[in-house]
Amino acid sequence: MTTSRPQIILDCDPGHDDAVAIVVASHTCDILGITTVAGNAPLDRTTYNARVLRHMLNLDVEVHSGAGRPLVVPPVFAGYVHGESGLDGADLPEPTRAVDGTDAVGFIIDTVRAHPGCHLVVTGPMTNIALALRSHPDLGNDLAGISFMGGGTFGNRTPMAEFNLWADPHAAQIVVNSGLPLTMAGLDVTHQFQATPPRIERVREIDGQLAAVLSGLFDFFSANYSSRHDDMEGAAVHDPLAVLALTHPDLFTTESRFVDVVTDGEHTRGMTVIDRRTLIDRPAATCTVLVGIDADAAWDVTISAIRAGSANR
Ligand code: RIB
Ligand code: CA
Repeated sequence: MTTSRPQIILDCDPGHDDAVAIVVASHTCDILGITTVAGNAPLDRTTYNARVLRHMLNLDVEVHSGAGRPLVVPPVFAGYVHGESGLDGADLPEPTRAVDGTDAVGFIIDTVRAHPGCHLVVTGPMTNIALALRSHPDLGNDLAGISFMGGGTFGNRTPMAEFNLWADPHAAQIVVNSGLPLTMAGLDVTHQFQATPPRIERVREIDGQLAAVLSGLFDFFSANYSSRHDDMEGAAVHDPLAVLALTHPDLFTTESRFVDVVTDGEHTRGMTVIDRRTLIDRPAATCTVLVGIDADAAWDVTISAIRAGSANR
């Protein structure tokens, strides 16, 4: 299995699956910083939750909060999936380290400039990333690329739109049309990576506070998914795939596609248009789209990350 340990900034809205992305990234990446955005919950909660994960992992990484609302559309949160706290389902430890700043966009720009060749991993609405690209259009010169969770050929917020891109479609359109190397973990692949009961039991068997908290979070998250879908054994653990796409590319099958984002329409706002035509004169591909995953192997990596994170305390 080919692996690499990329330098990343993780922009997220914790969120149960964002929490797993932080754990996996702590084990597989050099995290230059964590930035937060409103999405699954309001910004104060997603930022608090990022601090909780940093605390449990004993990570010496800065957390900077960012946009509290989308660029244009009104903010809408996902308490119906993640609970009002954004991380319902477990007793969370009180984080002892304060947030390191409230200018995520400035932190992203400064950190990318200081670490040419780093990646942005985006697991929430893309507001911070769009603002950074708008204020520094040449930021891409120092970026290896952007790996994001979002989109797909179907939706979860509407029949056609996935939550992250639906929540801030104008930001998503800016990022997807940035011309930067993009990797997209959409619902087509993330729904193949479910926290089924046997997989959650493997988490529960790990000693330590991190595994205990995560098993509670998985229980809540999967109960929510199973109650709201008629074909899912557990929650789709979306966000860590945006990390694993960089660190464990061999776990995935991919397609190179032209992708754009629709910004309006009752059913289409936030929808990704993925051009899968075989026409020779189709638009040039702009995105590496993840389409398949070795879910068991990816869960093995997740378990290893949780074990390693538990040993950090
Ligand atoms: O649609 C799934 C995405 O929306 C995930 O990133 C989840 O955390 C929520 O933000
Ligand atoms: Ca998320």
